[in-house]
Amino acid sequence: ICALVQHILFLFLLSSGTCSPVLLAAGPVAVQHRKIHHAVVPRGKGGRSSFSGVAATVFGATGFLGRYVVNRLGRMGSQIVIPHRCDQYDLMYLRPMGDLGQIIFMEWDARDKESIKRAISHSNVVINLVGREWETRNYKFEDVFVSIPQQIARAAHEAGIKKFIHMSHLNADIRSPSKYLRNKAVGEAVVREEFPDAIIMKPSECFGREDRFLNHFANMRWFGKAVPLIAMGKKTVKQPVHVVDVAKAIVNAIKDPDANGKTYALVGPNRYLLHDLVEYIYALSHRPYLAYPIPRPLYHLIARFFEMNPFEPWTTRDKVDRFHTTDMKYPDLPGLEDLGITPSSIEQKAIETLRRHRRYRYLDAELGETKAAKTVSY
Ligand SMILES: NC(=O)c1ccc[n+]([C@@H]2O[C@H](COP(=O)([O-])OP(=O)(O)OC[C@H]3O[C@@H](n4cnc5c(N)ncnc54)[C@H](OP(=O)(O)O)[C@@H]3O)[C@@H](O)[C@H]2O)c1
Repeated sequence: ICALVQHILFLFLLSSGTCSPVLLAAGPVAVQHRKIHHAVVPRGKGGRSSFSGVAATVFGATGFLGRYVVNRLGRMGSQIVIPHRCDQYDLMYLRPMGDLGQIIFMEWDARDKESIKRAISHSNVVINLVGREWETRNYKFEDVFVSIPQQIARAAHEAGIKKFIHMSHLNADIRSPSKYLRNKAVGEAVVREEFPDAIIMKPSECFGREDRFLNHFANMRWFGKAVPLIAMGKKTVKQPVHVVDVAKAIVNAIKDPDANGKTYALVGPNRYLLHDLVEYIYALSHRPYLAYPIPRPLYHLIARFFEMNPFEPWTTRDKVDRFHTTDMKYPDLPGLEDLGITPSSIEQKAIETLRRHRRYRYLDAELGETKAAKTVSY
């Protein structure tokens, strides 16, 4: 009877596929505890359905830059955790950016440390894109650019994560007239302190389809036929960067083991006087352009009026100051080229943003018809 029971058991195990005769002969089977989740073991050809080995949590993925970063990560086969505070239906556009099951949405509250820990608990890369152009009753610039990045950096360090990417700003400076930029500078310092190996990205103003830079100036036509600029925009130099280049820089920094601990200055290939840049925006949109000088206090007064909007203010005093700040030069910091990216110029990409500002009859007008903006070297 004993032999018969043994025989039946043997046949059952064989048929269920749980054990091979060799293993049975070897005695009890050791249970293998995997330390590495299969999602972070790279395999496949590198496309959307392969595994890149990156499991990234992207804080602030619902913003302008976020969609480009998620898209780049998704198309190379990464697992992406998206902490969000909005309704799930508002971020459905992000879902097709990754393969089935590769994009995971998770509710979070920036003030709840546990929710930050939960969001990064299965990731090996953390990206902080949290930002806001204006202060709200609940969140001041200190919260958005200092406290939240500090909490995320601390949690990432404690969780033993090796890659932490923090998004700062090219003009982050403690002496800046813009509170946004002053807090960005403090944010950089606290992130470095919490996570010494953090990769800090300092992009200039980013342009792209949903930007708040080219679109902002193009939309000024709604407030009269002329564009107000401090000192006619002739004392401000701008070097905008294409949003896709910034997203590529983030992805390349993840792949580059030497990027840890570095600060990157991400800028476009050309520098322009703000006046000439706005002139080009209007020329490309086939709209008449007339700039007029406005004193800063008067511009602030007008911006103050817009700040009363309880939703997204069209402009703020801080934004006026930020847009009229000359882009800094950082010859000692690595840039896009060091991450293997050739920066795209405004002349190549601005049409993607500005075509919608054209009148119907100019929709198909050739790019060559518009004279390129004058560049400066200072
Ligand atoms: N865009 C540029 O030209 C530019 C240039 C230089 C640097 N940067 C920096 O790059 C980062 C990304 O920029 P962006 O243009 O993509 O910003 P954005 O469009 O304003 O998106 C910001 C993201 O942060 C989230 N967020 C803001 N406040 C939050 C809070 N209190 N709690 C939780 N989430 C919060 C937003 O979530 P909700 O959708 O829920 O509001 C959104 O996902 C920012 O740090 C920005 O300062 C941007």
